[in-house]
Amino acid sequence: MTTASLDDLKMQLTRNDLLKFLMIYKFAIDEVNTKINILNEEFKYIHDYNPIENISSRVKSSESILQKAKRKKCELSLETIKENIKDIAGIRITCSFISDVYAVCEMLQKQKDIEVIEYKDYIKYPKPNGYQSLHMIIKIPVFMSDSVEHTYVEVQIRTIAMDFWASLEHKIYYKFNEAIPEKFTRELKEAALSALALDKNMERIHKEVNAIKGLDTRSHIFEPEAANSVNEGKIHELLRH
Ligand code: GTP
Ligand code: MG
Repeated sequence: MTTASLDDLKMQLTRNDLLKFLMIYKFAIDEVNTKINILNEEFKYIHDYNPIENISSRVKSSESILQKAKRKKCELSLETIKENIKDIAGIRITCSFISDVYAVCEMLQKQKDIEVIEYKDYIKYPKPNGYQSLHMIIKIPVFMSDSVEHTYVEVQIRTIAMDFWASLEHKIYYKFNEAIPEKFTRELKEAALSALALDKNMERIHKEVNAIKGLDTRSHIFEPEAANSVNEGKIHELLRH
């Protein structure tokens, strides 16, 4: 713990220190984005459709990094921040179907230069408010001219429906200054269940069409086991409270 303020840290660092620090996260994002694009193309070649609908990324602003460091009461030095704030680089992937979310996640995990540091399955175990998404903190090497920087990247993978829900919930959360009225918390839970029902239905239709087209024979290649274990009963139970 430290008593240093944000201003103190800013004064200790030159603008260049901070730029270099943040630049590495941008490179880490570039590397992961390249990997995701390759996987998307390869998947398209095998399965005849793109599993990924959209990829967005951001490097946290220096203000937000410092605010989070203070919130987490971590020492305000770049080294400590690098080790403790693991979502400075963030990538969000939206997929059409739940099975694609798990497929993309598994494909990323299998890459030799990716180390999975943290894995949170909010699809199998949604948050009490209804939030669903698959989160990973990964570590990848970024090769600089004079060093290799092992860098954390937060990857969030979810369906379009889950993403739609999360962006509305996010807006409501901030509109009510983090204290959402009971009416909306209830309605958001119901909307999360509707989103899940939609995801399941869309996936079923997609699979049926593939079966008719004779494409299902190839689907075993990336059929992720975890996708089959998403249990609606459990989700209802988790959201009931
Ligand atoms: P942070 O300290 O916020 O990073 O949370 P955490 O370290 O416990 O990680 P977690 O995996 O729970 O959440 C990481 C990120 O997922 C957040 O920064 C949000 O972008 C997103 N997220 C998590 N929970 C929610 C939620 O309830 N609603 C929405 N809209 N987004 C969420
Ligand atoms: Mg986080």
